[in-house]
Amino acid sequence: MRPLPRGSKKNRGISLGLLALCLAAAGCLQSQGVSLYIPQSAINATVEEDILLSVEYSCHGVPTIEWKYTSNWGAQKIVEWKPGTQANISQSHKDRLCTFDNGSIQLFSVGVRDSGYYVITVTEHLGSSQFGTIVLHVSEILYEDLHFVAVFLAFLAAVAALLISLMWVCNKCAYKFQRKRRHKLRESATEDIELQDVEC
Ligand SMILES: *[C@@H]1O[C@H](CO)[C@@H](O)[C@H](O)[C@H]1NC(C)=O
Ligand SMILES: *[C@@H]1O[C@H](CO)[C@@H](O)[C@H](O)[C@H]1NC(C)=O
Ligand SMILES: *[C@@H]1O[C@H](CO)[C@@H](O)[C@H](O)[C@H]1NC(C)=O
Repeated sequence: MRPLPRGSKKNRGISLGLLALCLAAAGCLQSQGVSLYIPQSAINATVEEDILLSVEYSCHGVPTIEWKYTSNWGAQKIVEWKPGTQANISQSHKDRLCTFDNGSIQLFSVGVRDSGYYVITVTEHLGSSQFGTIVLHVSEILYEDLHFVAVFLAFLAAVAALLISLMWVCNKCAYKFQRKRRHKLRESATEDIELQDVEC
């Protein structure tokens, strides 16, 4: 009679232990997760603008933040840092990038070449990580306007040149015509004089 209740007590103890273990594991998994919030995942900009690639993360401890830039020319790591320490910025982005403790980066005076995908990876001390992407499109509206103006001016110049050459040709024609007429007039006048001479 005795061993039975003891056994059930043991079983209950084991299942309680398992439950506690499961809860602990779940808690562990939850606490390991990195969450990343990106308010604007697509940004349109024009050249010379300063662009904030804004993000915010939450995790346990101090993570490592890394930004990669991907475009048609390939992928490249542009910056890596731990919040609160000096950032390791790639040579291509030195002097034109600054970092914020919330994981955001700012690009100064962007050019059309900066268009592309910016991928942030936040890696926690324990190894779990999370990534997010921001698409940046930089257009050269100002330059396009200038281009249009230049084409328009060239067109005007061409039309003006055409008109001037036409006028020159017309002028030449008219001059020739006049000279011919004057010549004919002079000829007829001399004939008249000759005729008069003969008559005299
Ligand atoms: C950016 O421009 C594209 C067209 O070039 C447009 O479809 C898109 O909605 C714009 N995005 C934002 C965030 O203004
Ligand atoms: C991150 O920090 C920068 C600078 O303080 C701020 O401008 C930006 O709004 C922050 N991003 C988010 C998503 O809160
Ligand atoms: C900075 O990054 C480069 C290449 O990504 C690496 O070789 C260098 O050791 C890094 N420097 C520091 C201080 O982490």
